[in-house]
Amino acid sequence: MSSVRESAELFAPSPDVVAQANVTSYEELARWAERDLEGFWAAQAEQFVWLQKWDRVLDDSNKPFYKWFVGGKTNIVHNCLDRHLTTWRRNKLALIWEGEDGDLRTFSYHALNREVCKFANVLRSMGVTRGDRVTIYMGRVPELPIAMLACAKIGAVHSVVYGGFSVEALHGRIEDSQSNVCITCDGGYMNGKIVELKKIMDEALKRSPTVEHVIVLRRTGQDVAMEAGRDYWWHDLMALPIARSATGNRSDTAVMDAEDPLYMLYTSGTTGKPKAILHTHGGYMVGIGTTLRWVFDLKEEDRWWCAADPGWVTGHSYIVYGPLLLGATSFMYEGAPTYPYPNRWWSMVEKYGINVLYCAPTAIRGLMRFGEAWPNRHDLSSLRLLGSVGEPINPEAWRWYHRVIGKERCPIMDTWWQTETGMFMITPLPVTNLKPGSATYPFPGVEAEVYDEHGKPVAAGEEGYLVLKRPWPAMLRTIYKDPDRYVSQYWSRFPGVYFTGDSARRDSDGYFWIIGRVDDVIKVSGYRLGTAEIESALVSHPAVAEAAAIGLPHEVKGNAIHTYVILRAGHEPSEGLMEMLRQHVAHELGPIARPEKITFVPALPKTRSGKIMRRVLRARALGLAEGDLTTLEE
Ligand code: WT7
Repeated sequence: MSSVRESAELFAPSPDVVAQANVTSYEELARWAERDLEGFWAAQAEQFVWLQKWDRVLDDSNKPFYKWFVGGKTNIVHNCLDRHLTTWRRNKLALIWEGEDGDLRTFSYHALNREVCKFANVLRSMGVTRGDRVTIYMGRVPELPIAMLACAKIGAVHSVVYGGFSVEALHGRIEDSQSNVCITCDGGYMNGKIVELKKIMDEALKRSPTVEHVIVLRRTGQDVAMEAGRDYWWHDLMALPIARSATGNRSDTAVMDAEDPLYMLYTSGTTGKPKAILHTHGGYMVGIGTTLRWVFDLKEEDRWWCAADPGWVTGHSYIVYGPLLLGATSFMYEGAPTYPYPNRWWSMVEKYGINVLYCAPTAIRGLMRFGEAWPNRHDLSSLRLLGSVGEPINPEAWRWYHRVIGKERCPIMDTWWQTETGMFMITPLPVTNLKPGSATYPFPGVEAEVYDEHGKPVAAGEEGYLVLKRPWPAMLRTIYKDPDRYVSQYWSRFPGVYFTGDSARRDSDGYFWIIGRVDDVIKVSGYRLGTAEIESALVSHPAVAEAAAIGLPHEVKGNAIHTYVILRAGHEPSEGLMEMLRQHVAHELGPIARPEKITFVPALPKTRSGKIMRRVLRARALGLAEGDLTTLEE
């Protein structure tokens, strides 16, 4: 989407924000990190508790398999929970949660730790040990972070599958991760309706019979099938004596190597097979703790709300781990932003006195449609900083967010990063002058560059491929079980540098403007989907012979999925069939993947080697020049 135009406007952060910012000078930090990358990150790592100090900050002897804080021992949970329990923070709220139905639950650090310890004991009693993968497929409930933290605590590797995904997506992820234990809910509330998570899990498990145990949290209360010997209720397990160890509710936190895996998270790429991005205990902790502290400037007394889903990397880094590392108070909401009315978010900002709000442009655009009257009913004066993530924010949405929500007092931190980067990479700091639609500058220690086709830096103002030239502590370490794909996907396009998959432009002031994906990835409402995944879901329907998916601009979603389908002999195009196919994709992958439009076609533009030329489809749909067609088969 290239609707984001460079704008001449410059917004200076308000003096209030600057006066109390955790960071005083971007330039100073950037210079320090440039001069001494290892010293810079070592100083940040010192802020966390290590059970044994590292021998080396960065090991780059086997590029691109970088290692950070080698020899160091810690556990991210030791820093998220354990260390707070011996301080006054034991009684501070770690989590405030509101259900879509208005339920309110709060957890102090003490209470959160108690639940995590009990659940860790439950997992241990099921035989889950260090290095085992556990799939978590839940709604947005407090037990989701509890389950993640419990896995991390015992050294197991969690694989959270977003609760909006469906049967095939879930099945593929369970299978690839070889999880023996899965955790789910009976259902989740979304928009006043129940998403039947357990039912989807059951269907997925029919295709993955190796799973031994399923733990089911009761949230929505409808009847669900429980398979004897395989399925257990969360509340039954938590009531067993086994949930309590000899030391009360304490359960020992496993001592991990800095480089031990913490979690894997599947994300879409160029093939139909999603890849599991692997993150670690040590470097990831240092990266996300540091970025959250500096970018969103969290203060001890702040209430932080990251409105993403915990099932995506944004939630992993900045709902679950980041805020707890800083000992912050985090707010989490279960449901839809417009339920029951479009003031839901704003009423919660007022009710809980939220100080920092971080969300996606699609949410802003969606809420903007309902007009200013909804937010204007509420006292939003607690807000100090705002944030944006997931896709480029168009200047209109930026200005609305800034004026109507932030009352022109709150700077907007437009953070560019990825599942793979783990942490913010190109982002303003509270002291940065902002240009609406630009993610501004690389975080200190990050070296970003825009390359042409041949790996040469382009001139200011020109568009090219966004690359990262220096390693960073929260970087992905590999793709689970597929190190070759890690190398080919990220480090081969331009040898020795990390290729992001995005195109970007740097203006003459050095500001970065992210344009969008240049690979076969579509960002729909900030969600990342692979064209190949959508195509294979379509082709799995008996009526479909071939399919192609592309993204086209959409006012609220940023991009919408448009598909082209060749039917098998004996099937005729019809409205009914089109609806059935859209439904089929939603059933297989999830409602977010439901195509906006399906066009039945007799043929698809292909190269001589048979590869679908999606750019030709896009150009035709947008009425643009079709570009170089020399490889197009007649
Ligand atoms: C892709 C990564 C990072 C958490 C959520 C998404 C796009 C992300 C921005 C931004 C413009 C952005 C990029 C990137 N993206 N943030 N601030 N401005 N584009 O993680 O699902 O791995 O997607 O999201 O295209 O490559 P993800």
